[in-house]
Amino acid sequence: MKTIIEPFRIKVVEPIRFTERAERERLIAAAGYNPFRLHADDVLIDLLTDSGTAAMSARQWAGVMEGDESYAGARSFFRFESSVRRIFGYKHVIPTHQGRAAERLLCNALVRPGQIVPGNTHFDTTRANIEASGAVALDLPVAEASDLDSDFPFKGNVDLAALEETLARHGREKIPFVLMTVTNNSRGGQPVSHENLRAARQLAERFSIPLFIDCARFAENAWFVKQREPGYAEKSPFEIARELFSLADGAVMSMKKDAFGNIGGVIALEDDAWAEKVRTNLILTEGFPTYGGLAGRDLEALAIGLEEILDEDYLRYRIASTAYVGRHLTEAGVPVLKPYGGHAIYVDGRRFCAHLRDEQFPGWSLSVAMYTELGVRACEIGNVMFGHPDPDTGVWSWPDLDLVRLAIPRRVYTQSHMDYLVEGMAELYARRETIRGLRFRERPAVLPHFTATFEPV
Ligand code: F0G
Repeated sequence: MKTIIEPFRIKVVEPIRFTERAERERLIAAAGYNPFRLHADDVLIDLLTDSGTAAMSARQWAGVMEGDESYAGARSFFRFESSVRRIFGYKHVIPTHQGRAAERLLCNALVRPGQIVPGNTHFDTTRANIEASGAVALDLPVAEASDLDSDFPFKGNVDLAALEETLARHGREKIPFVLMTVTNNSRGGQPVSHENLRAARQLAERFSIPLFIDCARFAENAWFVKQREPGYAEKSPFEIARELFSLADGAVMSMKKDAFGNIGGVIALEDDAWAEKVRTNLILTEGFPTYGGLAGRDLEALAIGLEEILDEDYLRYRIASTAYVGRHLTEAGVPVLKPYGGHAIYVDGRRFCAHLRDEQFPGWSLSVAMYTELGVRACEIGNVMFGHPDPDTGVWSWPDLDLVRLAIPRRVYTQSHMDYLVEGMAELYARRETIRGLRFRERPAVLPHFTATFEPV
């Protein structure tokens, strides 16, 4: 059989609210043309993020009831610790309330002002945390990553020559660690090959620099490696994940992705002194080291989620169902990034809205039109998120890609939701020149996309 079906039955459902176009036009205007400012109840299909939006399994919900809410040494912590350690293999397992808290703790423990943190491509909160420590977040993606049409199988890879040059030039004093983001979310949810990771590891070792992994979507990466990297076809996703973590000194994870969590994160590492620093800081802002800002029931649900995420039937369905959306959008002529990502399909804003200039935010304008026309919420990862004015000249620089991410929550939407999306996007593409450009009304300096407001031009 070629048809891949959802490897679950649906036991609990949530209604979604249908709205009219005129109503949506009013709502998005009131939200300052920023989809982040909409009320979620006014969204029909929410593809803003795959983060914290997963449907938990019956086993996870049962785990919620089992949660031990003791302040210190809760049973749920030990269950969490052993579930993380089984896959990651590191000695220290420190829970945090979500991924960016783990990033902040890592930066706080290891990064000093004036330093540089290179990687394949930092996610925006990671970049913000590195910069808040006074350091420079340096993205070194492979050249293929900027070519939307290249079918290079591992566009998440780091550019090894550029990494070597950076490590050689700045050395251990200026580089606290290398950070590899797996999969590479900001550049299309593309996987990193183990060959690339191993080479990055060897380079880092040569300069005595640690290597960390931002492993929010490690299971999806493992599936891509199994499918695409020579020598991995016979290995299980679990074995592949174990190998991934063995190539690093530690990892930070947003467990709102590949742990089926609605909240949660973790920092796991080998070094005793670093772990001590992280725990000291954790107590100041997150909580006691055995709960780190989470309830016992969250720890329980995450421990079970991690057991479920590496299931082959799930991963096969997950990657195939995302590709299904990509393939059908491509057939409808919609310009999307290839190969299709693991957690999301990325539409090329500049090609979709070729009538708009960078200053008019083609990708962002498309995301606003998607809401007004289809009731679908998506997230721009492009000109608004990364574009910025030069502090001296005021001249704007734009990122090389202006994408709109259609992120697919885990186990939430069915194929017919996706068919609606594809049909709507095809119709919108046919009359793409009606999409109006936007300009900023208010732009906060840090992470502008979350709260900025816009007006039509
Ligand atoms: N790292 C990556 C690769 C991420 O994608 C995210 C979050 C984080 C770190 C931060 O984790 O949200 O738990 O604090 N990405 C979400 C997204 C927000 O929509 O892609 P967090």
